[in-house]
Amino acid sequence: MNSFGQVFRVQIFGESHGGGAGVCIDGCPAGIPLVLDDFNNDLRRRKSGAKGTTPRLEGDLPEIVSGVYRNHTTGAPITILFRNENTRSADYNRLIAMPRPGHADFTGNRKFGGYNDPRGGGHFSGRITLGLVAAGVIAKKIIAPVLIDAQLIEVGGSKDIPTKIAEAIAEHDSVGGLIHCRINHAPVGWGSPFFNGLESTLAHILFAIPAVKGVEFGAGFAAAAMKGSQHNDCFIDASGKTLTNNAGGINGGISNGNEINIRIAVKPTSSIGKEQTSFNFETQTMETLYIGGRHDVCIALRVPVVVEAAAAIALADCCCLNTNHE
Ligand SMILES: Cc1cc2nc3c(=O)[nH]c(=O)nc-3n(C[C@H](O)[C@H](O)[C@H](O)COP(=O)(O)O)c2cc1C
Repeated sequence: MNSFGQVFRVQIFGESHGGGAGVCIDGCPAGIPLVLDDFNNDLRRRKSGAKGTTPRLEGDLPEIVSGVYRNHTTGAPITILFRNENTRSADYNRLIAMPRPGHADFTGNRKFGGYNDPRGGGHFSGRITLGLVAAGVIAKKIIAPVLIDAQLIEVGGSKDIPTKIAEAIAEHDSVGGLIHCRINHAPVGWGSPFFNGLESTLAHILFAIPAVKGVEFGAGFAAAAMKGSQHNDCFIDASGKTLTNNAGGINGGISNGNEINIRIAVKPTSSIGKEQTSFNFETQTMETLYIGGRHDVCIALRVPVVVEAAAAIALADCCCLNTNHE
């Protein structure tokens, strides 16, 4: 559903072309300093505008509707709303009969019996990640001094990001990307095995980010080709620091005090400018599909800050859970 977390509980809402999108956070500790300017940096990083991102420009101005008084969180639920201002819904009319390959038009329509909002992808739009980023700003404050840094390291399988973006634009196509997320200064002991181990919790929220198709910790899939003698991380001091970090900072679902290392694969945008075929459910025939609307050529360009927010929310929940047990 649309809620995540056990103590620091985040509920996202909204649609791409509805009234707006946002987040409601319950279980946030009281007394955390919070002003609107705190959101600026992370919201700017998610914004479109760079080459390879959607031409749809939105103000993305947060409205704090509840849970903050005199520039501090109150302990009551915090609601943050972003109003939609720049919508062009007619672009999506045709996609009701002819779903986009790779998008959620077909699955959303079937699951919700045709009552889903198809405009701009509705609730399946990347716009929903605004609420995640806003909650992430607060979560980052809760987990400080834990530091999360996510960077785009590859696009289309290459480190030459501008060239791959330019190629995809020229071909009216799209391109995927790889994000590296590093989390430092997490204490030993976060994560609650069995089902709420740290890998499970992080993977759960990271896979909720639209277009994320792969998440690996430490050596990840490469571990399957390694020997134990290569993969084992040898301890080098009393704090639990290890010589290598193939585990990605987590053992048994519990943070081990080393850097938490995650790689996230983001797929190429499904809405492409190239002609494709799809099934027309009205005429019951295969037809050529031209997708209108405004789209990111490379979603991964905008996802690093969303990854940071998602990781921060998961860690804030672990942190609050740990505090509750003390
Ligand atoms: C920041 C962000 C921006 C996105 N922009 C687009 C877009 O412009 N066009 C599009 O087709 N999908 C876009 N997506 C991806 C869709 O939301 C996603 O593919 C869709 O919900 C289906 O989910 P899935 O790809 O995870 O199966 C974006 C996702 C994110 C996180």
